[in-house]
Amino acid sequence: MSDTQHPGARIIVALDYANAGSAMEFVGRVSPELCRLKVGKELFTSAGPDLLRRLAEQGFDVFLDLKYHDIPNTVAKACRAAAGLDVWMLNVHALGGRRMLEAAAEAVAAAAKPPLLVAVTILTSMDASDLESIGLGGTPEQHVLQLATLASDCGLDGVVCSSRETAVLRKRLGKDFRLVTPGIRPAGSAPDDQRRVMTPADAIRNGSNYLVIGRPVTQADDPSAVLLTIHSELAALS
Ligand code: C5P
Repeated sequence: MSDTQHPGARIIVALDYANAGSAMEFVGRVSPELCRLKVGKELFTSAGPDLLRRLAEQGFDVFLDLKYHDIPNTVAKACRAAAGLDVWMLNVHALGGRRMLEAAAEAVAAAAKPPLLVAVTILTSMDASDLESIGLGGTPEQHVLQLATLASDCGLDGVVCSSRETAVLRKRLGKDFRLVTPGIRPAGSAPDDQRRVMTPADAIRNGSNYLVIGRPVTQADDPSAVLLTIHSELAALS
């Protein structure tokens, strides 16, 4: 799928399922023209690389969301192994620091088919008091900006960030830096446990490249219909 020409290329559906069986049941109801897919810690731990191969065989681009965070050598090797699984995007924690980020970028660049490499900055579940309790002063926004700038300096392709942060990051880090945003809710859908949500169109308007959307699609009676509605909303923007 070309990068963001088609609305389906901007949508990453979070496959938050406990096992391969339930994930594949959902996958059978969508198609690679409608969305990309995200596999996170729970599903990967239960289903492993075999699931990634099955998704690739069906033509899906996969974001492997394992948020690596370890010493540089270990993260570089994990990134190399992930790149060998033909994933489209993978991620690391920017809090691993400059040497870890550079090692990850180098490992990915050496792959036969390099995936996009993005960083998580400050988890959106953390507020200023959580940061203080681990010895980090300042606001989450200050750390997000600092860590995203570091990720960019180290050659990463982008960051995962809240849709509230996209406008500032886009301005600071330029048009080519990829911004991947969860917390997206089409107009009228339930927020679930997300505290601050944004519609797909507003998130793209604010500078996001890719929208991570889970339950509004995975729990819909007709997931393809929900995706097509989002496509129309995005197509109307261009
Ligand atoms: O179902 P929902 O659309 O809320 O799912 C969002 C997905 O994005 C989940 O996989 C969640 O873990 C992930 N995510 C998030 N907020 C972050 C980082 C990741 O919701 N800050």
